[in-house]
Amino acid sequence: MRDIRIAPSLLSADFSRLGEAIKTVEDAGVTMLHVDVMDGHFVPNITFGPIIVKAIRKLAKSDLDVHLMISDPATYLERFVEAGASYVTFHVEAIAEAGPLLARARALGVKAGIAINPETSLDVARPVLEVSDLVVMMTVHPGFGGRSFIRDAVPKIKALYDLREAEGYGFEIEVDGGVDLETAPLVARAGGDILVTGVAVFKSEDPAAAVRAIAEAARHG
Ligand code: DX5
Ligand code: ZN
Repeated sequence: MRDIRIAPSLLSADFSRLGEAIKTVEDAGVTMLHVDVMDGHFVPNITFGPIIVKAIRKLAKSDLDVHLMISDPATYLERFVEAGASYVTFHVEAIAEAGPLLARARALGVKAGIAINPETSLDVARPVLEVSDLVVMMTVHPGFGGRSFIRDAVPKIKALYDLREAEGYGFEIEVDGGVDLETAPLVARAGGDILVTGVAVFKSEDPAAAVRAIAEAARHG
């Protein structure tokens, strides 16, 4: 049985009861929370910045996986690290050269990674795979929770997994977008180690049961 982690995306949680939402999923076994930062420029939606990440850090025991969907990650990296990120990922589409920023993030003591949109080729990521702790494969167009899962992105997860095995790279593979009971087994089989899930957990009637069911489906599906 592979060790697959479920990382609930707080984007779909009730922000007026955030502490409760976090406790509920942590009690269900969650050790990583996905935190979606959007700037209204890289994606057409705005969420929150470092001060909210700092508040989440106080409420949570889990690792905070900060997904920067912002046009200028280089300017804001340090602020998110200071706010309490454990993992920081930024988009290869947002930056000309990812290598130096990954190195800077790692030097600050966080795990660093890149995120890749569904239509972006893996070739763009290849030069930095060796220096990435995490690679986020988007299975929706980023910007909002609850978007429809893009099945065509699944073979790319498998291709990334095969590349990692062939080259002996050390990064974890995270799958982000549209992961639910039905799609979790697909992306787990393709090679996902960390599955982000927003709507399927926080908009369900019983988020704790949803986390357990999706984890079970991913591990045994
Ligand atoms: C999409 C975000 C995702 C999203 C996942 O822009 O990066 O993390 O919140 O949520 P669901 O599972 O609802 O697609
Ligand atoms: Zn995300």
